[in-house]
Amino acid sequence: MTDYKRHLITAALPYANGPVHIGHLAGVYVPADIYVRYLRMKAEEVLFVCGSDEHGVPITIKAKQEGVTPQDIVDRYHKINKKAFADFGIEFDIYSRTTSETHAKTASDFFRTLYDKGKFIEKTTQQYFDEEAQQFLADRYIIGTCPKCGNDRAYGDQCEACGTSLNATDLLNPKSTLSGSTPTLKDTKHWFLPLDQYEAFLKQWILSENTHWRPNVYGQCKSWIDAGLQPRAVSRDLNWGIPVPVEGADGKVLYVWFDAPIGYISATKEFTPDWEKYWKQKDTRLIHFIGKDNIVFHCIIFPAMLKAEGSYILPENVPSNEFLNLEGEKISTSRNWAVWLHEYLEDFPGKEDVLRYVLCANAPETKDNDFTWKDLQARNNNELVAILGNFVNRSVVLTHKYYGGEVPERGELTAFDNETLNAIAQIKASVESSMEQFRLREALKNAMELARLGNKYLADTEPWALQKSNPERVKTIMNISLQITASLSTLMEPFLPKTVVKLREFLNIEAIDWNTLGNTNLLQTGHKINQAGLLFGKIEDSEMDAQLKKLEQTKLQNAAQQQQVAIQKPAVSYDDFMKMDIRIGTILEAEKVAKTKKLLKLKVDTGVDQRTVVSGIAEYFEPDKIIGKQVTLLLNLEPRNIKGIESKGMILMVEDADGTLKMIGPEVQVKPGSCIS
Ligand code: MF3
Ligand code: ZN
Repeated sequence: MTDYKRHLITAALPYANGPVHIGHLAGVYVPADIYVRYLRMKAEEVLFVCGSDEHGVPITIKAKQEGVTPQDIVDRYHKINKKAFADFGIEFDIYSRTTSETHAKTASDFFRTLYDKGKFIEKTTQQYFDEEAQQFLADRYIIGTCPKCGNDRAYGDQCEACGTSLNATDLLNPKSTLSGSTPTLKDTKHWFLPLDQYEAFLKQWILSENTHWRPNVYGQCKSWIDAGLQPRAVSRDLNWGIPVPVEGADGKVLYVWFDAPIGYISATKEFTPDWEKYWKQKDTRLIHFIGKDNIVFHCIIFPAMLKAEGSYILPENVPSNEFLNLEGEKISTSRNWAVWLHEYLEDFPGKEDVLRYVLCANAPETKDNDFTWKDLQARNNNELVAILGNFVNRSVVLTHKYYGGEVPERGELTAFDNETLNAIAQIKASVESSMEQFRLREALKNAMELARLGNKYLADTEPWALQKSNPERVKTIMNISLQITASLSTLMEPFLPKTVVKLREFLNIEAIDWNTLGNTNLLQTGHKINQAGLLFGKIEDSEMDAQLKKLEQTKLQNAAQQQQVAIQKPAVSYDDFMKMDIRIGTILEAEKVAKTKKLLKLKVDTGVDQRTVVSGIAEYFEPDKIIGKQVTLLLNLEPRNIKGIESKGMILMVEDADGTLKMIGPEVQVKPGSCIS
């Protein structure tokens, strides 16, 4: 690391189409922040950039669903996510966004430079076009029947029923989700980055020169390269994004994965006019923190773009994490299977560092990992409370009890004392070595060793048992305990930034920089410390049960929804469908059927007659509240005898995701007997 003058650390720009959750924190932002804090504490020159990724098709879909503009969506989530990061102590130097003007210009100019240098190839391909909506359709805007499994709601890029990834042209019976019409294939021109031409460069740079990258990252790159690289389209037919800055490219924007990584450059520009020193000088060390689904973009495509441009440096490392699961299942925004940061903060105010600790201790560095509430509770209670909190508390409390809060003088040291004091520098070195290899969970484990050691030191020396018989010896013991406590306030800072602020308040000291760590006389004799407060509080079973219950609830809701989606009935003929006489009727009378829980006996005005219908809706409707309501009725269902009552026809109901029934009636009152067709 010594050849570098400065570090440029990037954290993947999260999409601004939803709030961030623990998976994001564990995969990218907590590790990046820990590493950056470490560098800052070592007085290295470092810039830490991030921001919102605000383009791409999913944002436009979400906007359409909500009936708002894409800009409304990204404005909302940019704000929410920026705050969530700040709440958890993720301290970016700048948190920018890809809808900023600087970014539009930077990305546009970047494209133009490559274009002018002849780095792109132009290709005309066929793409689905919606004649009614008069626009080309992104894959996500097309649904049809999956050729693999027959699911008739497969998307143009993927079938979510069987997981197959698809091309839009693979779908049988494709339909535009914009208008419902059948799209037609139409020619469209796009610009491609010919990755095949960068194969030799990438092979040399990654496979020979970057053997120090994590095995999961290196391995993924190798398999991409070995499979042979193909030209990649860098433009799209879409009306949300940065316009392609070329004549005759109306209606075309830069592909989101072309502009997003350039967002790192734009953010740097917004931070400082001196941005070029970070991006163009060889003595800058560029590090990308990302999740594993981003590897190809950061290790292959973006470097190829930078190489094509020619004046930029390339990343020195790309520490990518695997995924974090939640209670054994993949985190999923659409299934609401996640711990949202704002909800965590509501349920556990002041416990931001607990989550940081757990996510780091359990970081999915080498393989996917599981977050469980039991594990959070155990780590909090058995590690943060019982080891770190307990040691700090005993040191501070005993100092007050014996010396009125003044650091006592150190006498002659035993071999054990020396060993203990020397361990501080050793632990510091082991934390550094882990940090420098981006093994952050190992770094945390090593750092916690010092708290364990402090606890053991007190347990072994038992100052409380010696205070009467050998008060001089106790002074030495307490002095050493306090030096360890002061060391912890530095050692723990990258991991637990809020906690160490409290700890320093107890000790009545300023921040100690990393390089001073290892000094065994951080607190001078006679220095006055403050009273100890609580560093960590115990987490009770009931709190964890509440969280598990919440997840259980989510599962039930998902299952109900799944069931509805999964039931697919065989096709019926038009003639069969037309046999059904479906009409609107008005409820005239309603009463409970005696000795049943579910049944209501209704008298309904059907326009042709007033008839009796028995319906299993008593759990959801009060008889006297539904008089006068208009409902949908299958009139010509064969009469049935239900509990001795002749029921003629059937009321149609809709079952909501939570299993409750809702009536289906016309938007406005209509004449009873009006036909539905
Ligand atoms: N928004 C992308 C994701 O969440 C990450 C973009 S990283 C950048 O997967 F490099 F493109 F910025
Ligand atoms: Zn399928």
